[in-house]
This record gives sequence, structure tokens and C-alpha cells, in this order.
Amino acid sequence: MSDAVRFEDKVVIVTGAGGGLGRAHALLFARHGARVIVNDLGGSTHGDGANASAADRVVAQIREEGGTAIASHESVTEGEKIVQQALDTFGRVDVLVNNAGILRDKSFHKMEDSDWQQVYQVHVEGAYKLTHAAWPHLREQNFGRVIFTSSTSGIYGNFGQSNYAMAKLGLYGLTRTLALEGRRHNILVNAIAPTGGTRMTEGLMPPEVFGLLKPELVSPLVVYLGSEQCLDSGGLYEVGGGWVGKVRWERSLGVGFDPHRGMSVEDIAKEWANIGNFEQAVHPADNIEALREMMNNLQKYQHGSTSNL
Ligand SMILES: NC(=O)c1ccc[n+]([C@@H]2O[C@H](COP(=O)([O-])OP(=O)(O)OC[C@H]3O[C@@H](n4cnc5c(N)ncnc54)[C@H](O)[C@@H]3O)[C@@H](O)[C@H]2O)c1
Repeated sequence: MSDAVRFEDKVVIVTGAGGGLGRAHALLFARHGARVIVNDLGGSTHGDGANASAADRVVAQIREEGGTAIASHESVTEGEKIVQQALDTFGRVDVLVNNAGILRDKSFHKMEDSDWQQVYQVHVEGAYKLTHAAWPHLREQNFGRVIFTSSTSGIYGNFGQSNYAMAKLGLYGLTRTLALEGRRHNILVNAIAPTGGTRMTEGLMPPEVFGLLKPELVSPLVVYLGSEQCLDSGGLYEVGGGWVGKVRWERSLGVGFDPHRGMSVEDIAKEWANIGNFEQAVHPADNIEALREMMNNLQKYQHGSTSNL
């Protein structure tokens, strides 16, 4: 059997595909045989303005290379229109790459409501609108792949990016939940936290590093996550500069107190180092696993013990 990852019968939407990472994703999907909806509003990194030429240029390049693509100039905040365009043109949608994004960096005490709202609208509301509109079609055809674009700024926090970090880690919560809801319908949902030399990161790193962080080094992971071959769901991958890794939650084993007796503030203070001791850390993969130590603690004290801890 061939190892080739192909998309001849698949329709892929890539948002924010007029430049940067999205452009590289769209080009690679097309090279692997997908029919691609190249969506881009064509505004500034700040989220101002609009320009149809961004998406048009990428479509032209895909066609020059012999691929199939159409341009969409809608904002992702009108995501249902983008999905409808895919359905009207190609009759289906199979893969959705939620990539469009803007920045409104400001330290929290200077953050204005408009900075908070605008970043939320594009990253969260936009990804929701597209995914929600595509979801019934993915369910019906019993196939779907959805990729959300998170960020290390959300995973680890980043000075001056409270709005962006909130949105980006929120998308991972959405990823985890849609992975659960989609599994039965062969809809697999994953998230990436990319690093790439784009207009978004220009000036933030030395030019020689920027040059090496080519957007093309992120796209192979995205195309693989969009494929039939990839059977993983709910994953979060950091990717960039030719390197790919997977992220998971880690939690300390924790400290159990007698729930019948309760615990004092002083008990918490006394056990503080043990509460944060990661020597025997666990890696819960879902809510059930996350609750295991808590349930074990209830079981340990189930007979109403009043013994000292
Ligand atoms: N470059 C990085 O290192 C990095 C790191 C972490 C996360 N990301 C994320 O990766 C994604 C791509 O970013 P990039 O670095 O390629 O930046 P970019 O600015 O080059 O690309 C973002 C694209 O999204 C488009 N866009 C913005 N608002 C839109 C809207 N409302 N509707 C449709 N299109 C819209 C822009 O026109 C632009 O072409 C973003 O979600 C970004 O937050 C990038």
C-alpha cells in the first residue's frame, strides 16, 4: 500500500490563507490533491481593513501549479458563509483549518474593551462560526478533520497578550470537547501551537532565526492532521523550524484530606510543598482520569473516619 497522503475526493477550507502560515497550508493541501477554499479578509495584523488580493494571489498560485482552489474574502466572523461557499462550489466540506488571526498586544492595565473583543471575535467566534456551520455536514458524511490554531502564548502565557492567550487556550478547550463529541462520527479534532516567521512575528526575533522558521515547516503537520491516515484526536502539537512535539497535561498526585473532617487553611499551608510535588505526577487524558485521585480519596475515607491525617 502506498504511504502517499492524498485528498483527491476532499474539500478543505483554510482560513487566513492569504499569507503566512495559512497560505503555506493551502498550497500544501492543494499539492496533495485537495480542492481548497482559500479564505482571507486581507486586513492588517491589527485587524483593520480588507483586501481581496491576498486570497486571490494564493488561488492563482495554486491554479498555476495545476491545483483546484477558489477564493473567499469573508471574515471568519461570518464563517457560515465560507462553509456555504464550499458547499455551493464543491458540494462538500471535509477538512477545516481554523487559522485566521490578528493581534492586539497590550499589557492588561492598558487593554481596551475593543482590543479584547476584536481578538476574541476573530480567533474564537470566527473558529466557532466555521466549525459550527461545517459540523452537521461532517457528521452526516461520517468524516471530518478540524484543526484549530492555538499558541504557546495561550499554553504558557505571554506578557502583553492576555486577550490573545485567553482566546488561544480557549480554542484548546474547544478542541478537547469537540474531539469527544466528534469521535463517534469520525470527526477528529486537533490543535497546533505553531511558530513561524510571518508578518505576525516579524521583528520579534533575530532575522536569521526568522528566516529559518519558514511557514512551510508547519504545514506538513497540519496536512497530516487533516488526512484520513491520522487517527489521533484531541491532541495539541507545538511545531516550527522543522520540529514537532506533543503537549499533554501533567498534574501532581496531590494530597488527600478526610472529607468528613474537612481541612483548615493551616492544613493547606502545611501540605503546600506536597500539593505541588510533581515527583509522582499523573497525566490525565480525560475528565474521568482527572477525577481518579479525588475519587480514591473519597473511597479511602468512605466509612466516615475521623482519624488524624
Ligand atoms: N507566526 C507564529 O509564530 C504564530 C504563533 C502562534 C500562533 N500563530 C497563529 O497562527 C495563525 C496564522 O498566523 P500567521 O503567523 O500566519 O499570521 P498572518 O498575519 O500572516 O496570517 C493571518 C491571516 O489571517 C487573516 N485574517 C485576519 N483576520 C481575519 C478574518 N477576520 N477573517 C479572515 N481572515 C482573517 C489575515 O489577513 C492574515 O492573512 C494565527 O491564528 C496566529 O495567531 C502564529
